[in-house]
Amino acid sequence: MSAVVITIDGPSGSGKGTIAGLLASKLGWNLLDSGALYRLLAFAAGNHGIDLTNEEALKALAAHLDVQFIDKRIILEGDEVTDAIRNEQVGAGASMVASLPAVREALLQRQRAFLEAPGLVADGRDMGTVVFPDAPLKIYLTASAEERARRRYLQLKGKVGGVSLPSLLDEIRARDERDMQRAVAPLKPAIDAIQLDSTELSIEQVMERILSEVANRDLAGQ
Ligand code: DC
Repeated sequence: MSAVVITIDGPSGSGKGTIAGLLASKLGWNLLDSGALYRLLAFAAGNHGIDLTNEEALKALAAHLDVQFIDKRIILEGDEVTDAIRNEQVGAGASMVASLPAVREALLQRQRAFLEAPGLVADGRDMGTVVFPDAPLKIYLTASAEERARRRYLQLKGKVGGVSLPSLLDEIRARDERDMQRAVAPLKPAIDAIQLDSTELSIEQVMERILSEVANRDLAGQ
């Protein structure tokens, strides 16, 4: 692998999607939103009437998933699903299919294929532990569950009807529990990850911290 990868892992709502996107555009690198792959799989399973616990059928679907990432748009089996995969129901389905080892295995090569010059920012749960264990910079971004629920609430309020802060907090806690407790590739910081708690930090402050690590390692000029 000649291209460089920076991994950003963390729980749901920690801000890693925003940070990974900003970092990739600042560096002019590619972006892997690995959560989108699990979301797409859960969504496609719904379209095909496949049960979210049917590991064999999901493995086959994952291996042949017809998806294109075009700029910021996501096309699944010919239909644009950019916004449709972002709701909490699809997130919960993604978390379920993500607990199946055969599914994770089927998506592994697809994720590694995103690593192209000049570099990649990879956002997920196991980017630093499993998918890119040799990454020269690994960030583990977290925030309190209350703060993450509050951020999600502010994002959804006005766009989606019937959102409530207590139910978002319950959903975030349930998803944390499932993502951290699963047997295969659970959410946890890589041993060599830099842990950043963003509860009291702005997006700019988080970016500043990460960019100083990029500069320390001389990664941007490679
Ligand atoms: O980051 P996200 O909310 O879009 O991810 C959706 C779900 O996918 C998340 O609850 C767990 C799973 N996931 C995973 O298991 N491994 C990844 N690398 C990314 C996401």
